[in-house]
Amino acid sequence: MSKPKIFITRRIPDAGIDMLAEVAEVVVNPEDRTLSRAELLASVADCQGVIGLLTEKIDAEFFDAAPKLKGSANYAVGYDNIDVAEATRRSIPVSNTPGVLTDATAECAWALIFATARRVAEADRVMRSGAWQGWGPLQFIGQGVRGKTLGIVGAGRIGTAMALMSRGFDMRVLYTSSSGRRNAVLEDTLKARLVPFDTLLAEADFISIHTPLTPDTRHLFDAAAFGRMKRTACIVNTARGPVIKEDDLVDALKNGVIAGAGLDVFEREPAMAPGLAGLDNAVVLPHIGSATVESRTDMATLAARNMLAMLAGQRPETCLNPDIFGPAFFDAERSDRKGGAKA
Ligand code: DGY
Repeated sequence: MSKPKIFITRRIPDAGIDMLAEVAEVVVNPEDRTLSRAELLASVADCQGVIGLLTEKIDAEFFDAAPKLKGSANYAVGYDNIDVAEATRRSIPVSNTPGVLTDATAECAWALIFATARRVAEADRVMRSGAWQGWGPLQFIGQGVRGKTLGIVGAGRIGTAMALMSRGFDMRVLYTSSSGRRNAVLEDTLKARLVPFDTLLAEADFISIHTPLTPDTRHLFDAAAFGRMKRTACIVNTARGPVIKEDDLVDALKNGVIAGAGLDVFEREPAMAPGLAGLDNAVVLPHIGSATVESRTDMATLAARNMLAMLAGQRPETCLNPDIFGPAFFDAERSDRKGGAKA
């Protein structure tokens, strides 16, 4: 029997590729760049499985281009790039990589808090420029973190881990929840308080965004939201760029409406909003939240395990549309097989 074919849209750590190579023909995009849409669609035409990135839209057009597809695994926890409803309609399982990048992303949010509060990137630039003339009492004065109020927007896995890491800094923690559900871990461990969004805006010194991108959270942070924050507050985003209306953020940072921003994600990646790069009170990173050896390796092996399950017709460990494995799924499978629609 011929081996199933899996396409991986960009090289990922070998640990994942090796697992798949034992049972499948694995083709990895040979280029160290994101494929164009046309290249992507052509590459998946005869594949049973695809491991893809957050930069690729997995939608009706993609599924049409891959008629033999038995499953698509996202190499990311965020899945706003996947049309899950469309995948479900076609009984194609799709998966993501939750859990394995929680600490890495939470640590990255803290890196941005410290970099922003203590003006690390700006000071580094001055050192490299050769302009530093020696110690000065008024140079690069930033803000302390200990004892301040931390506002977590979206206290899911990563938001919770990020908040728990504040324990060494005796911070008061506020959080919002789109479902209105209380976070018992944060309340018991940190005496954190669930508050309305406007309260969090008004009271937090540091706001860290961890909400997924949905129609409700797109542009959650716009000029009006920045206007309700403290002028001394800093905002950090390691979730998805479009949660912030980036042009409004540039204006807020330029005009002293808020004090600083630390961004790992951008509204129109890889581009940044005009004016952002020139602002010393913005720290910008190239979407590296999950970029640790541990996380990226675990993401690769989790995506590979998910893919192996999907090829075997089984429910993957971290499935985004588990409902298709109910009775309806098996009926659809049977009728598809009769019609020969799926390889
Ligand atoms: C994700 O997983 O959603 C990140 O943005 C990339 O690791």
